[in-house]
Amino acid sequence: MEFEGKAAIITGAGMGMGKAIAVAFAEEGASIAVVDINIGAGQETVKTIQDKGGQAIFIQADVSNASNAQQVATDTVNAFERIDVLVNNAGIQHYGSVIETTEEEWDQVLGVNLKSIFLCSKYCIPEIQKQGSGSVINIASVQGFASQQRVCPYSASKGGAISLTRNMAIDFAKDSIRVNCVCPGSIDTPLLRAAAELTDNSQQAIEEWADAHVLKRIGQPEEVAQVVLFLASNKASFVTGAAYVVDGGLITQL
Ligand SMILES: NC(=O)c1ccc[n+]([C@@H]2O[C@H](COP(=O)([O-])OP(=O)(O)OC[C@H]3O[C@@H](n4cnc5c(N)ncnc54)[C@H](O)[C@@H]3O)[C@@H](O)[C@H]2O)c1
Repeated sequence: MEFEGKAAIITGAGMGMGKAIAVAFAEEGASIAVVDINIGAGQETVKTIQDKGGQAIFIQADVSNASNAQQVATDTVNAFERIDVLVNNAGIQHYGSVIETTEEEWDQVLGVNLKSIFLCSKYCIPEIQKQGSGSVINIASVQGFASQQRVCPYSASKGGAISLTRNMAIDFAKDSIRVNCVCPGSIDTPLLRAAAELTDNSQQAIEEWADAHVLKRIGQPEEVAQVVLFLASNKASFVTGAAYVVDGGLITQL
């Protein structure tokens, strides 16, 4: 198993993509720190991993909060004595133009989607450095490259995540820590389902979103998880600073 003896932190692992990523790492032998603001969802992911024979702990944290992020690193080291992989996945959506979005909403989205990457990396990378090598993977979005109506703070946060990934890749190459990001298209998660519910006809909205992808469907969380697993593995030993688009061809066509 690729990650036997390694410890991986997955933020926002209570549901959606984060849960699929956590389960995928556990199936490859990693010990998992399941980090989420939602206690019930996080504990459910831990149970799913343990039921499959894997090892996992739950850490409740708001990853946009500095002391919570520091606690994530401390609790993981206390439990597993190491950190090898950090997946900054937690994210929230908000709809509004610049005019419609309040300062509080801007701060909240930028806090959870971008500042959390800064904070969790700040406190976890020193522990990864102690291992002599490791990997950080940030979950950005195709919305870091292209935008749509009324997603002002979200698209800004995802563009920032892609830029921050490049900076971190450069800063930590000397420590053999590779830093990459993954940019998903529409993926079938509670976040996407909630977005569909905001439309007049949620089923029709999902069908329209599926149609916009070259592959004519939305993706599954497990399909993103496999790319994250690859980027963290030795198979991706020459990949750093990359933004991996996992979008069924969504942004390849005009
Ligand atoms: N679903 C998509 O179509 C899609 C597309 C592109 C990018 N993304 C990105 O992928 C990531 C995961 O999205 P998802 O669709 O699985 O979302 P989701 O809403 O289904 O799950 C997100 C998880 O993050 C947790 N979370 C939210 N705020 C948190 C905080 N402050 N601290 C800790 N945990 C927190 C939630 O409790 C939840 O368990 C996000 O960064 C999102 O922006 C999603």
